[in-house]
Amino acid sequence: MKKSSADALTLARPILESKKYRALNLPPETVVDLIQLALEHGLKPDQAVDEARKKLHNIVAPYLGDPDYAKEQDHLEHIGTFSNQDEIRSFSLRMLESHASTHERIPLLNEFYKTIFDITGKPGTILDLACAMHPFSYPWMGLPAGCLYQAYDLHQPRVDLINQYFKAAGINGQAFYGDILLNPPPHQADAAFFFKEAHRFDQRRHGCNRPFFEALNVRWLVVSLPASNLTGRFDLADRQRKLVSDTLAGLNWPVTEVLVGTELIFCIRKNNG
Ligand SMILES: C[S@@+](CC[C@H](N)C(=O)[O-])C[C@H]1O[C@@H](n2cnc3c(N)ncnc32)[C@H](O)[C@@H]1O
Repeated sequence: MKKSSADALTLARPILESKKYRALNLPPETVVDLIQLALEHGLKPDQAVDEARKKLHNIVAPYLGDPDYAKEQDHLEHIGTFSNQDEIRSFSLRMLESHASTHERIPLLNEFYKTIFDITGKPGTILDLACAMHPFSYPWMGLPAGCLYQAYDLHQPRVDLINQYFKAAGINGQAFYGDILLNPPPHQADAAFFFKEAHRFDQRRHGCNRPFFEALNVRWLVVSLPASNLTGRFDLADRQRKLVSDTLAGLNWPVTEVLVGTELIFCIRKNNG
């Protein structure tokens, strides 16, 4: 740990224990990292805390929506396992609707995965990075039986609900809690999904996507970014293409770009995978 870690942890405590975040049980190292970064940029402790709060709001993105985690968790515990595919799909849809990133994909679910897998082939192992509610799309992915699905997020109630869902739906999946930027997943996989998050990673720490992508032990890295903003009024496509090309500069990793709805998808073939 860096010399200022203990001080940064003291500064991080009020944020972690605030009404806004305490139920999420965020990894303390995430907030410590944000504060340390701000201190390294020369901000005074009070300013560093303000800066960390701003960045954390963008990382957790509460404005994108949430289900009632306790209620849904109780529901899954009560039913134990889903009794048929219709039940799985109707629960999954409710979860997808609860978060803007997955909500806007609902009309395009079948097309979305077909388009990706036509390029990458159907993976037998998947990492879903910064997943939010995306694992609830599993029933529409058309994956081979037994496909191993490993999802990652730093939001504890989300991770717990996803684990309960995998169990109830009989999916060979596991959700992991932690900060993937600070601790990239070590697991090997055919494909990693990194959807609608690379621009936020870059806002958190400029340039961080490059070492993050390099650390992943996967054959295909499928990165998506919004081609327009949440209101649909601003065209972001060129900005997103630049983020991806800057991140991959000098790497010999072929990229196939496709657009599904308003989501720009970059299928990146990692040559070291
Ligand atoms: C915009 S949502 C992702 C949407 C999802 N990938 C999709 O496209 O449907 C961002 C999610 O990433 C998670 N997240 C952000 N930074 C993270 C990090 N460093 N490690 C793990 N999860 C992270 C947040 O908790 C949130 O659930």
